[in-house]
Order: sequence, then C-alpha cells, then structure tokens
Amino acid sequence: MNILGISAGFHDAGVSVIREGEILFAAHAERYSKVKHDEHINNEIMQEALSYGKPDMIAYYEKPWLKKTRQLYAGQYDQALDFSNITIGKYLAKHTPTIDYSGIRTAHYGHHRSHAAAGFQTSPFQKATVVVIDAIGEWDTITIWGAEYDSKGCAVYKRLWRQVYPHSIGLFYSGATKLVGLRPLDEEYILMGMAAYGEPGLSDLMRLDLIDNEWEIRFKENMHSGISCKYLHNLTSDMDIAAAAQDLAEDLILNIMLRARKFNWSDNLVYMGGVALNCSANRRIGGYFDNIWIMPNPGDAGSSLGAAALAYGRTLNWNSAYLGHNIPGAYPVNDILDGLLTNKIVGVANGRAEFGPRALGNRSLLADPRGKEIKEKVNAIKQRQQFRPFAPVILEELADMYFDMPRGWDTSRYMQSVARCRVPDLFPAIVHHDGSSRVQTVPKDGSGIRELLEKWFVMTGCPMLLNTSLNVRGEPMVNNRADADRFEQLYGVKVYS
Ligand SMILES: [Fe+2]
Repeated sequence: MNILGISAGFHDAGVSVIREGEILFAAHAERYSKVKHDEHINNEIMQEALSYGKPDMIAYYEKPWLKKTRQLYAGQYDQALDFSNITIGKYLAKHTPTIDYSGIRTAHYGHHRSHAAAGFQTSPFQKATVVVIDAIGEWDTITIWGAEYDSKGCAVYKRLWRQVYPHSIGLFYSGATKLVGLRPLDEEYILMGMAAYGEPGLSDLMRLDLIDNEWEIRFKENMHSGISCKYLHNLTSDMDIAAAAQDLAEDLILNIMLRARKFNWSDNLVYMGGVALNCSANRRIGGYFDNIWIMPNPGDAGSSLGAAALAYGRTLNWNSAYLGHNIPGAYPVNDILDGLLTNKIVGVANGRAEFGPRALGNRSLLADPRGKEIKEKVNAIKQRQQFRPFAPVILEELADMYFDMPRGWDTSRYMQSVARCRVPDLFPAIVHHDGSSRVQTVPKDGSGIRELLEKWFVMTGCPMLLNTSLNVRGEPMVNNRADADRFEQLYGVKVYS
C-alpha cells in the first residue's frame, strides 16, 4: 500500500511517499516552486510523488478543525474562518486542481504526534522517550511522549506531558529573531550564529521579564507577534541579545530534557520539532539520555513523513536523508577533486536531494577548508554575512582527532550538533567565533561523499572539506540540473553532476 504524507499550510511544506515501510520519496515543496520556505504544495512536487504510484491513502500532519480553535483564540480570524483547508482533500483541490485524487482515502493526525512519529518510526529504537519542541501546531507547543512498539510491531504513543499555546520556546526564539531585525520563521539559524559573538549576561534580565514559571515553561506574555524586551536595544548590542536569547532557550530546553528523563520511560531520546534544529543547544542534551536520534528533518516539512508513518503504524526503514529529486549518474569524485585542487571551490549536484535543511554532500558547495582566505571567498560567492562560518564534513573515524565531540554525540551524521575544534588555527573557515564547528561525520557507508573524502585525504592528508548548501541567495537549495546550471551562470562556480 502506498501512503502519501503531506505537511502544508504554515511554512516549509513537504511531501513523503512510503510503501510497506520503505521510504520511496521525501522532499520539500520549496525546491520545486523556488519559493523559500514555501507553505504550499505545488503540481511539480506532487507529480514527482505520484510517479511512485497512485497512493491508497493521503495522510495530513495536522487536525485543521483543532487548529482553527486555536486560531480563533489567537485572534487570527482570517485563517480560522478560511474553510478551504478544512480537510486535506479540499486543500489539494485548491492548490493542485489538475490532479485527480478520486478514490484515495484521507486521514488527519495531530501536529505534535506527526513530529513524534517522524522521529520514533525512523529511529533505531524499539522504545524511546520522545520530546517535541516547536513554535506552534494546533495548541501544543511542547510535548513529551513514551513511544514503543507493541507485540505486533505497531507503534504506540503515550503522551506524558504537554505545554500549550501561547507558552512556546519556538515563539520566544522567533520573537528574539525579530527583535534583532531578522526574519522570524526563517532566520533563527542566523540568530544562533550571532549568539557566539555576544555576552549572555542579560539573559537573567530577559528571564525576569518574560518567564512566569521556568519549570513549567510558562511565559508572562504571548510572543506570537514578537517579544516586548525592546528596551534591550538601549542597553546592549544585537549580538548580546542573540547570546542572551540562546542562553535562555538552552536553559528551557534542558529543563524539558530533565522533565523527560524523570519519567524514566527509556534511556533513548528521540528529539523533534523545529527547535531541534538548534545545533548549539543540542550539544548540551547528551547528558540526559544514553542514545539520541533526531531525524534530519525535525521541522514541519519532516512531518509529512510523520503523518505517513502514523498511517502505516510500523517502523520505517531509514537508510539516509537522500530521499528527494534524483540527478542520475555516478558521484563525480574525480571532477570534484580536480576542481578542488585547481580552484579550491566546487559545486556538486548529484543523486537524490537531501530531505531536510542541511546539504550533506549531494547538493553542496565544497571547498578546501585549510587557510585563512577560503571563508571570505565562499561567503562572497554566497553573499552571506562575513561573520558566518561554514561547516566541516569529515571522515567519521578521524573526527575525534579534530573535534571534541560533546557527550552523547560520538557521531554527527546530519550536522545536528556543534563540537569544539581542537585545531582552529589550521581550519579557520570551519570554526565559529566561540571555537565550535557544526560537524558532519561520514561513516564507511559507500556514499559518494565518503569516497570523495577518502581520496581527498590520500591526496592532501586533510580528512575534511568545507561543506555548505548549494543555493542562490534568497532561494532554496538547487534541486535539479537546470537549477545547477543557473547557479553556475550566476556565481561562476562549476557544478558537477
Ligand atoms: Fe511543528
């Protein structure tokens, strides 16, 4: 039975297709529409999803009626009274009117339950404590679940704790993002990067002003439209505000991890929701659980897979994050090596696109990480702020020699935690101001990026490369070969397929 999962209607729409536990396809709508963080499904992504066969069921990641009750409470009357999205059937008829969905059953699952399933049912665990932290779904903003498979192999979820709107760590972090002039629900990762340049001393003032009960994660105000600490601008810099917000967010996240641990459900942690993308905070969660799994797409786009997983009910066979559009052909290892040796920077667009916000080698801009000039050069190509560092991708068995991996993170295969670099002077381009790096470790998995790193190591003695996403500024990552050609033309960097 083919099940098609959809998340859409808020931000970062996604589509997934599974069949009998195999993940056939999973991708972001934005890669097809070229609208960054596109909230809507489009014909192109649906046509590609349907090329895997007509689904027997379409599973949606939210309960629209329930969401509308929260929207009414929040005063979002336009959205609450728009009934064109009251079921996934109505939504698809509106946004993909030329596609025939007749005869396909539909199902709707809760927003946080879909996050939980996307994590647990792709994890290697038979039993796990699941923590979901995001901005907002229907009502839930933080949930803790006890998850396990019953004797028939069916996933069972028991909700152990919840916090609801408007008390939300995600909304607080988005509010802080807005406070420093960045775009909320988009540029939270820049706020996280800025935090390394500031002093978190004002986090206590922020805590005093905003938090009613730190253990229960209850705030004094609704931060849906921003936070009220505007006086902070008179006291300090944007970098200090970012540091204070990051510091406070980390303390709140750790409170939830401690609460989750106290249920004593399992030593395994599955962590999901958009807040799980905060890789600086993630370095600190390892002390609470023995094993950690964050599905590499923990935000809302990933919940398309979660909704499909709930409809299926059993474990999914997770092999890698390479689940999107395919650019066929062998990984161009030798072309990339030649390009790196002559120009130091080269693009690659090969194989299936990554499902998730990180480029992991199939839609990447790669560079020689050694030396002082390379960071400036790559930042200029990508037109990013000069303070922002890049990520290293390294042979997994050598990661420990170069990075002090935090507790609980022996590996970081999906760039989900930062680690202190042991030799920052040798690799300034991949080390942040605070000495940390967002590491991607690559195991002996037969992938193209693994073969490339092995050969690069033999040729240069350097076991890592600089890795950043292949995208034009303000646009989503390159998806197909035409996008790669456009990237080449605009930036003059050769992209191999
Ligand atoms: Fe969410």
